[in-house]
Amino acid sequence: MSGKLAAYETEHMEKLRKIAPECMVLLKNDGSFPLGEPGRIALYGNGARNTLKSGTGSGDVNVRHFTTIEEGLENAGFVITNKVWMDHYQEEREKAKKKFVEDIKFQSEKKKIPAFFAAMGAIMPEPEYDIPLDGEGDTAIYVLSRVSGEGSDRKVIPGDFLLTDTEVKDILTLERKYKKFMLVLNVGGVVDLSPVKDIKNILLLSQPGMTVGDSLADAILGKAYPSGKLATTWSAWEDYCSIGEFGQLDDTRYKEGIYVGYRYFDSVDKEPLFPFGYGLGYTDFEIKNVHVLVEEKNVKVSAVVHNIGRYPGKEVVQLYVSVPEGKLKQPWQTLAAFKKTEELQPGESKEYVVEFSMDELASYDTESASNIIEAGDYVLRIGNSSRNVEICGIVRLAENVLLKELKHLEGETDFEDWEPEVKRQECLEEKCFDIFVIEKEKFTKETTGELPEMEPDIYDLLKDLTDEQLAYLCLGNFRMGSESESIIGNAGSYVMGAAGESCDRFVKNGIPVMVMADGPAGLRLSKTCGRDEQGIYSLESSLDPFLMEFLSEEMRIAMGAKNEQGIERKGKPFYQYCSAIPTGTALAQSWNTEAAEICADIVGNEMERFGIQLWLAPALNIHRNVLCGRNFEYFSEDPLLSGKIAAAITKGVQSNPGCGVTLKHFACNNQETNRVRSNSMVNERALRDIYLKGFEIAVRESQPHSIMTSYNLLNGEHTSHRRDLNVVVLRKEWRFKGLVMSDWVISGVSFGEQKKYPVACASGSIKAGNDVFMPGSERDYQDLLDALRNPEHKYHITRENLLECASHVVRLARILKGEK
Ligand code: BGC
Repeated sequence: MSGKLAAYETEHMEKLRKIAPECMVLLKNDGSFPLGEPGRIALYGNGARNTLKSGTGSGDVNVRHFTTIEEGLENAGFVITNKVWMDHYQEEREKAKKKFVEDIKFQSEKKKIPAFFAAMGAIMPEPEYDIPLDGEGDTAIYVLSRVSGEGSDRKVIPGDFLLTDTEVKDILTLERKYKKFMLVLNVGGVVDLSPVKDIKNILLLSQPGMTVGDSLADAILGKAYPSGKLATTWSAWEDYCSIGEFGQLDDTRYKEGIYVGYRYFDSVDKEPLFPFGYGLGYTDFEIKNVHVLVEEKNVKVSAVVHNIGRYPGKEVVQLYVSVPEGKLKQPWQTLAAFKKTEELQPGESKEYVVEFSMDELASYDTESASNIIEAGDYVLRIGNSSRNVEICGIVRLAENVLLKELKHLEGETDFEDWEPEVKRQECLEEKCFDIFVIEKEKFTKETTGELPEMEPDIYDLLKDLTDEQLAYLCLGNFRMGSESESIIGNAGSYVMGAAGESCDRFVKNGIPVMVMADGPAGLRLSKTCGRDEQGIYSLESSLDPFLMEFLSEEMRIAMGAKNEQGIERKGKPFYQYCSAIPTGTALAQSWNTEAAEICADIVGNEMERFGIQLWLAPALNIHRNVLCGRNFEYFSEDPLLSGKIAAAITKGVQSNPGCGVTLKHFACNNQETNRVRSNSMVNERALRDIYLKGFEIAVRESQPHSIMTSYNLLNGEHTSHRRDLNVVVLRKEWRFKGLVMSDWVISGVSFGEQKKYPVACASGSIKAGNDVFMPGSERDYQDLLDALRNPEHKYHITRENLLECASHVVRLARILKGEK
């Protein structure tokens, strides 16, 4: 490791090392692990040395160093007996990589796309090879890794979603050869494990951040224990719902409606390989003495969790509800509440309460455009996975409740949502459960709010600005000339490696600048920078080394590592070392909101340290399809788990003064294929109950300072261009008070041949109450001026539009500066 760690780095690393095992899910366990003490071990697989702490793209973090699994095991005192295998594999990998890079460059020229974009998220095919499995000893680990990232979706091919022949052959051979064998999955998303499902020990390590290698060693040795649960259903490719479309270039129809993830598997009663909410530990738990208590419309279920095994551990109490069908069809069950226990010692038991309000079970009725709770029996199911639950009570609602009148969202689809033909049946009569009746009177009809008046002090700051000056405030800060500085997520000029910033032209007028840096797996900044008489600049090594191969000369200059003459700058170096926390999916797998809050507090601390006001995270798009290239950044297939983790992260970051989060990508950004111009076609019910739900939970519970709209269109219009989403839903329905920004739309860059839809634009966004168009460019500024001056402009805007958006910029900038 290079250099001595600063105190904050050590402190953060220690915390993260403890949290990482919470995110690991033990899928299979025959009792051979933990090992108890280090010894001789054979270590195979593509992730042994090339371990991944996260995926690629804006969701990656530039750490000083992170421990690979090879290092982690050696740090813990293991002696690796097959270094020859590892070296040999490395040679095979280098050969494959060379060919891969050549292919990308060739394809990018052919398709006329900048090589950098063609390379973003591209996945190198895993080579096939035949290297003797000759590591000594009776214990072996095989680390299977898979990477993905922004810009590309995953594919159902060997080396990506599927295992290669070599991987299957080696894993099965090792299982027979070694007395103790564990398959470790260092992956960001699901892989089809069906060919190796009989392996007796499988650990989903995931990509849990910078201590990945050390944390795995801790778990293997029993110094820590995996206590995560799946946040998404794991199954064979053929088992997933194939009703909806995925990855279409222009229109992608979400025909499966609300039947996403376990809602599909459970409703059609299909057994997945590993269900949602599932995860073993080294120990076993029993959930007993379950009692239901209903107060007003709040349902509380208490249960005693008893550690009946030989090791300490943590369990997750999960409460699901089967909502009765009336006018609306419902999935078999829905997660309604959960609670992770503290560490329980062998023999120890403790009581926990999980609770929810019946309001939270409301569904959207498209016909009446309202949220309703229908009369009938609500079956409560408690357990430790979606497939291991027992009925613990019934809540009976005698009459229908109209909870909230809403407005239809704009746009249309050309299909009706799929519904299962045969309803899964269950015979409740024979069994005897407590029934709790809730009267309709217990519910209060919610109202939609009105927009608050502009605060007088903000109006005073804005009233004398010209329209042109207001237009600048509604754009990200940009320098005249090249747009390429924005291309590499490196548009910031105040903090190197920051993704962007708000307008800095009116700092003297009392409007501070906000610097924004990416996430979600930590704070993404350049780690090594320089300072010379021209200012500060990033050093090239801050970028993903793989992507470096594809940078054009212009981009290198724009990054600042070279001056205009192409000469390396040689200023005084300085460092911005940030901590990589577990990826979004890994954090969700912890099912632990306190752990998520601690990780977020680490990020907040580093934001303060390096002068970042807005973190471009958490990302809470739904795992709609296991092939989405950015799933590792996102939490889960379930909106409740997503919303609760996002709310915890928001609290953790925003507990640090001057720091805010940016929930992203609002909404239905569930694929990377043609990501800036693809149209997600979603019917209102699924939109409200699945895709907006997590955002709503996070907004209501934690008031995030900012939200980022998504690149995609939704039912025919870009989300940033939709006033119904940005103003009506966000501000009036959910009472969001912060800033709405666009995703990073680089309007001047060609993405290959023209597709059906254009990219989003500044005028369309500002007109729709998307307050800031990011990262901002001269072209966007001209677009705003045209839209102001020309009443025929497609997105004609007025001074009021600019004032509305600018006021949100000013309000937040002043709050984060501590001036409000
Ligand atoms: C990504 C966002 C990210 C932004 C800034 C975009 O390409 O979609 O998630 O925050 O870049 O780097």
